[in-house]
Amino acid sequence: MSKIATTKYPVNSIIKERWSARAFSDKNISEDLLNQFIEAASWASSSMNEQPWVYYVAHKGTPAFNQMADLLMAGNRLWAKDSAVLLLSLAKKTFSNGNPNRHYMHDVGAANQNLMLEATANGVFGHLMGGFDVVKTKEVFELSDDLDPVVFIALGYPGSAEQLPAPFNEREVTPRFRKELGEILIKK
Ligand SMILES: Cc1cc2nc3c(=O)[nH]c(=O)nc-3n(C[C@H](O)[C@H](O)[C@H](O)COP(=O)(O)O)c2cc1C
Repeated sequence: MSKIATTKYPVNSIIKERWSARAFSDKNISEDLLNQFIEAASWASSSMNEQPWVYYVAHKGTPAFNQMADLLMAGNRLWAKDSAVLLLSLAKKTFSNGNPNRHYMHDVGAANQNLMLEATANGVFGHLMGGFDVVKTKEVFELSDDLDPVVFIALGYPGSAEQLPAPFNEREVTPRFRKELGEILIKK
């Protein structure tokens, strides 16, 4: 499969198999499986074990799902509306003691990656989306200043590239690439 990462070193297969899909089938994701993904997310490490992550969830076919899909940028809504589940990943910006948490984004990112890997291990694919209306999202969900909407996540069982319009159909089968290790690992 063209989306599986080609690596120089023997990286764990679940890391190689995760990719950001856009084509989803009609199959629902059960409550239990979704809970499993969120539990996996919750086992990420976090600064002071603050666990600054929160997830809002909606299943396809519900008013809440449509409300969440409406908050996405048009180019994302186009395909994410066919996902089985939409999540909104939120981050609490302060520690329980009220001090600013400089690492809240880091920690929520780690939780989201755990979530995606657990999903991949169970045959579910997903796609993180930073392209959404942040102002409207804060209004719709009446978010306090302390709660930062980070990304939407579309989850679903895989569909086929042909169900997507151009240019997404082609992107669905294009191999993925990464920077060379020499660009990101610098000996000191
Ligand atoms: C924080 C974040 C925001 C992203 N926002 C979008 C988005 O709005 N729309 C989109 O199609 N993909 C989005 N992506 C997916 C990236 O484009 C994708 O992860 C990247 O191209 C690498 O591809 P891969 O995940 O298949 O390895 C986002 C990913 C992250 C981590």
